[in-house]
Amino acid sequence: MRRNHTRTPLIEAIERHRSIHPISFHVPGHKNGLLVGDHPFYQGDLTELSGLDDLHDSHEAIREAEKLLGDVYGSLESHFLVNGSTVGNIAAILASCETGNIVFVQRNCHKSVLNGIRLAKAVPVFIETEWDDAGTALGIRLDAVKEAMKAFPQVKACVLTYPTYYGYTYNLKEIIDECHKHEVICIIDEAHGAHFTLGSPFPESAMEYGADMVVHSAHKMLPAMTMGSYLHIGSKRVDAHKVKEYLTMLQSSSPSYPIMASLDYARSYVGTFIKEDLDQTLEGIRELINGIERIHPQLIVQQADDPLKLIMRLEGRTGYALQELLESVGVYPELADPNQVLLILPLVKKGLSFPYTEAIGRINKALENEPMVEVIPMEGISTSRRTTPFSTLALSLEEMDGKVEALISLDDAEGEVSAGMVTPYPPGIPLLVPGERITADVIRRLNEYIVNKANIQGHHRLADHCVYVYR
Ligand SMILES: Cc1ncc(COP(=O)(O)O)c(C=O)c1O
Repeated sequence: MRRNHTRTPLIEAIERHRSIHPISFHVPGHKNGLLVGDHPFYQGDLTELSGLDDLHDSHEAIREAEKLLGDVYGSLESHFLVNGSTVGNIAAILASCETGNIVFVQRNCHKSVLNGIRLAKAVPVFIETEWDDAGTALGIRLDAVKEAMKAFPQVKACVLTYPTYYGYTYNLKEIIDECHKHEVICIIDEAHGAHFTLGSPFPESAMEYGADMVVHSAHKMLPAMTMGSYLHIGSKRVDAHKVKEYLTMLQSSSPSYPIMASLDYARSYVGTFIKEDLDQTLEGIRELINGIERIHPQLIVQQADDPLKLIMRLEGRTGYALQELLESVGVYPELADPNQVLLILPLVKKGLSFPYTEAIGRINKALENEPMVEVIPMEGISTSRRTTPFSTLALSLEEMDGKVEALISLDDAEGEVSAGMVTPYPPGIPLLVPGERITADVIRRLNEYIVNKANIQGHHRLADHCVYVYR
């Protein structure tokens, strides 16, 4: 029988503590918010006091809250994370792989996955991604995994991103089943799918598909605070003790109580989400789509496999131009790319509301006077995608360690080996990875990001049109 998800043990413990009007002679330095004028943001920012448990050695409220979390997701064990899915991915990989182990990884993964593989000194084999004609990543194919399995039968783990940032899913169950035939540990970065546990019309969740570990950014799709995430252990293939050890090493010894309390709240929110709440959510989405679809003849609205992800394109304009138009009326999308913008829609419970009508009015204002423009067919990413189902780094980690870096013009970089990770952010998916050979396609895509003044993180000097390579 499911547990009572209206309970929020950690929030209750914090409220109990606050109700006694405690005098703080402890960290944090704002003294229960007193030094910041009792600002409500600070008041629940406590520490490991009696009754408030300890994330790294939990027996009381946090333990109970994590048990409730495991109950919602059907895990063997679940953990609160206070450093995002970033720390979840890194800990999951470190706990599963040793130096030299082969790891299959979806090439368009988040940078934390690649950083985890690098820290584990494991060897990535990149499984290629399918793209649609607008350049949206769709997912990976079972055949690609099978091909890679033939070439690398000793593979130890497989790290996949499901759903993609844009809300697309793929045949994950078949891939997990194939991996399990070979005793390969499946780590699923489900950062954008913490709500999939709600069932139809959301896609099936990685836990239901039998994943060994699943990481959720609760702060992305559930009402948790930024950096609040979950890590779930789904099978005995995982060394749960090692996972816990890495989480303790990698996370602060002073984890944030507001973040943890928000994780407790987010679990209760999803754990008590009922049909009426779903109806309210879907009704809002329908209102939005109906309201914006007819605003402009060149506006294309596309719902992803996840109904909470909405892609908008304005033909003849880049995603950045559309983002600028929307922001000019105070409507802020999650991200823009050269072709489109992505909206992340809310899970709205009955009794709550979201300003969809206002949003439609504003989008109408932003686009109503936009002229029709001639559409020049774009060179889709799909037209230039790699032809091999998988690829490896041109240089191993050891080989990279001994190499000297050179700074060269991006225009001369084709065929060179990248020394830097170069990541447009958002979405945080690296275009260049250290040790990977630079292709003409990647240079073209980087140029597209540069022209559009996208934020590009990493080790590069793109402001001077230069990148670091190994010589
Ligand atoms: C697919 C994916 N995985 C992992 C992360 C990292 O998540 P967090 O920001 O919670 O550390 C992100 C962040 O954008 C992401 O999109």
